[in-house]
Amino acid sequence: MSKDSRLDIDPQQRLIEIPEQPPKPLRVIAPKNPVWTENKAQFIMRYLRYFVYITKHGTYIDGFAGPQAERETDSWAAKLVLESEPKRIRHFHLCDANPAQVTRLEALKSSQALTDSSGKPIHRDITIYSGDFNKRVDEILESGTISEKEATFCLLDQRTFECEWATVEKLARYKKSGMKIELFYFLANSWLNRALSAQKDMDRLARWWGHDDWPKLRDMSRDTRRDAMIERLKSDLGYKYVMPWQIFKRKTGGIVMYYMIHATDHPEAPVQMSRAYRNTVLPLEPVEQLELGLEAESKGPQTQPPPPLSGQRSA
Ligand SMILES: C[S@@+](CC[C@H](N)C(=O)[O-])C[C@H]1O[C@@H](n2cnc3c(N)ncnc32)[C@H](O)[C@@H]1O
Repeated sequence: MSKDSRLDIDPQQRLIEIPEQPPKPLRVIAPKNPVWTENKAQFIMRYLRYFVYITKHGTYIDGFAGPQAERETDSWAAKLVLESEPKRIRHFHLCDANPAQVTRLEALKSSQALTDSSGKPIHRDITIYSGDFNKRVDEILESGTISEKEATFCLLDQRTFECEWATVEKLARYKKSGMKIELFYFLANSWLNRALSAQKDMDRLARWWGHDDWPKLRDMSRDTRRDAMIERLKSDLGYKYVMPWQIFKRKTGGIVMYYMIHATDHPEAPVQMSRAYRNTVLPLEPVEQLELGLEAESKGPQTQPPPPLSGQRSA
């Protein structure tokens, strides 16, 4: 048993373990309530709120940034992250291939406040990129904002097969020292078999999966594909902690629509992701309470163990 203080917790707490090679195993509290599609953006924003509270700065890359609903909405990750307090993320890179979505991103950029809630000027830059993220990713990486020490989070919120594996690799390998760019990768689940059968463009599949075994994709079970993706993020790209977060179809649980796979080198990041998942549906805690929460979470859970998610199944 590790002597890490975060593991020094009430044995009655129900924990899920993140399978880990060195450096050390991490355990996070199993979630009580499912996160469902409608509040995925809240989940992302919540995590980044905790993330910047630790890092005090940051760069946010959103490769597929237009709103899912193709209209201005409060379930839009880029919007919620931009508006979240405290405003510590200094650099935003938002890309979309659809011109109408780019127009929405430009409008979102123009609507941003110039001062924060306490009246202080906000020093940040927001760059909008129009086009295929797989092509524009190099420009974003070379923009000059992502130094070796810059805490950088990249959302890869594709619809199904848009984000090529080579792009994931470029992001993961960009930094040569320290913590890699954190990834939050969308992996379809409930409709993936159907989408694979319907996909006629084999090159597209090969580019998406990016591994020699892509012709076997259709024969793999959903869980095998998910586990293979997790394993590659660890073994091929070297991420220390990789964890899939289930996003359900409905508030009540049931079908896992897709996974958001979190890949990071920071041992605190999965702990805060777990906290974000559990808190997604709760009212936002005031900024003054953020620090208290961070400390409590890192030392171990203070609350009663949650019951299992009801009706949870893979698809
Ligand atoms: C699932 S939506 C993103 C949802 C968004 N993250 C939200 O919170 O609402 C996917 C977006 O990716 C865009 N897209 C599709 N292919 C793309 C590509 N190759 N490069 C960049 N954007 C792309 C679509 O136009 C769409 O706006």
